[in-house]
Amino acid sequence: MCGLKSKDSIEPVYQTAEITLYNGDCFDVMCNFADDYFDMIFADPPYNLSNDGVTCQAGRMVSVNKGQWDKSNGFEADLKFHESWIGECKRVLKPGGTIWISGTNHSIYQCGFLLQKLDFHILNDIAWFKPNAAPNLACTTFAHSHETLLWAKKNKKAKHIFNYTAMKNGTFQEDKIKIPDRQMRSIWSIPTPAAAEKTFGKHPTQKPVALLKRIILASTNESSLILDPFNGSGTTAVATKIIGKRKYTGIEINKSYIELTIKRLNLLENINENLFSKIQNSE
Ligand SMILES: C[S@@+](CC[C@H](N)C(=O)[O-])C[C@H]1O[C@@H](n2cnc3c(N)ncnc32)[C@H](O)[C@@H]1O
Repeated sequence: MCGLKSKDSIEPVYQTAEITLYNGDCFDVMCNFADDYFDMIFADPPYNLSNDGVTCQAGRMVSVNKGQWDKSNGFEADLKFHESWIGECKRVLKPGGTIWISGTNHSIYQCGFLLQKLDFHILNDIAWFKPNAAPNLACTTFAHSHETLLWAKKNKKAKHIFNYTAMKNGTFQEDKIKIPDRQMRSIWSIPTPAAAEKTFGKHPTQKPVALLKRIILASTNESSLILDPFNGSGTTAVATKIIGKRKYTGIEINKSYIELTIKRLNLLENINENLFSKIQNSE
């Protein structure tokens, strides 16, 4: 089901026809997966920025610390960490498979360097612009208002999925600025997640569903297999389920974030069931 080399190597904690979740370290889980298995990987690894700085949230000064998992262990250790998981991602991607890596200046240059070192072919670097980003409280730099998304393919010569027309005509632009017949540009303006996306609690680096929907619609097709080795609150799982007809595998080390993911998925299930019974009742 999930490309496991042997059936009993590791058990998922949640499994449906579309979604499989593992609670564990992504190295331990990924090393059980078969080679050349996934069509697309979205990875939102630790940013290594939780080093006791401050930021602004709803007008208040708050710590930037996201959790122990986000602390830097020094340049060399962080580089080694990123090299291990990116290397494993390369092994489990199909030859024409692509990987998206998101990050800030704290992590993205190391990840970009490693994509080049590990012989990926970089397709795009997207600037995800956050129109509602928090101001820089210290007034010592420009306000940090974007994250970078690197998009790369495993094998330069293999054909990769890019749904050019769908992206070109703007059908999937979540910011509703529809620019027909223009190629979609590499700067994407998408707000940070709204309160409605945090109904069951917050993840400190939760991505907006709109961002993941765009990524999935751009770089996968029906029946594609998607992996997110740093599942967090499960935004990639939620977007996969909303779009449908694809299969998702997520890995998350923190059990409470797996629980949060399951609550978000169950909400979708309930919405679907309610819609289904409304449709049935109206017939
Ligand atoms: C930047 S967050 C991902 C947020 C996610 N994209 C979302 O929208 O909620 C990174 C996540 O990776 C998890 N993590 C850190 N190290 C890990 C590892 N070695 N294996 C699996 N998960 C890990 C953290 O607990 C955290 O939830």
